[in-house]
Amino acid sequence: MSDNKRRIIIGITGASGVIMGCRLLEVMKEFPHVETHLVMTNSALITLRSETDIPIDRLLSLADFTYDIDDFTAAIASGSFITDGMIVLPCSMKTLAGIANGFSDNLLLRAADVCLKEGRTLVLSPREAPLSLIHLKNLLACKEAGAAIIPPMLTFYQEADTAEDQITAHLGTVLRQFGLKPKGYKPWK
Ligand SMILES: Cc1cc2nc3c(=O)[nH]c(=O)nc-3n(C[C@H](O)[C@H](O)[C@H](O)COP(=O)(O)O)c2cc1C
Repeated sequence: MSDNKRRIIIGITGASGVIMGCRLLEVMKEFPHVETHLVMTNSALITLRSETDIPIDRLLSLADFTYDIDDFTAAIASGSFITDGMIVLPCSMKTLAGIANGFSDNLLLRAADVCLKEGRTLVLSPREAPLSLIHLKNLLACKEAGAAIIPPMLTFYQEADTAEDQITAHLGTVLRQFGLKPKGYKPWK
């Protein structure tokens, strides 16, 4: 690891709410001692285009390191590459199923699998409604394997009046898992 830098892997999937992953990368700039390692699924590129006008180049430029979804030779595919863990935001039900079943057929899934096998922090932020029995069983399997399950939940006690405020509140909850407190996050007094 370079100097005293920490490393967090950020996975963005094709669930709705790709803007939350974008905001996470922006917020991570508040923590220059933490390297961000970004991997996006092919479906995430589709939701990025569907739901935002953010150019992909702009999104990629927010991360310190980016990886091709099919590149299994990437550093984050190996447990010997030391990281603090990984955040999957938003996490689709397909990616959830892959993680729950150890089916690592892309780099994002492999990186999450590595976090679980190495006992590192893995935060999944699943986005779907309503949840089927299969989704719930997969969430339970991931929780039992050590992941933190943090869906984007509406917040009513943090003066979160706008969608932007709601995202900030969610990112605060996610980053708390890594001991990081973003500006604008208002924890309960
Ligand atoms: C605009 C749009 C929104 C979607 N929203 C969701 C969602 O909220 N949750 C989900 O599980 N899948 C959602 N999907 C479907 C996923 O993109 C699809 O299942 C895809 O195969 C996920 O692949 P990935 O996990 O490799 O990103 C959405 C698709 C589109 C086009």
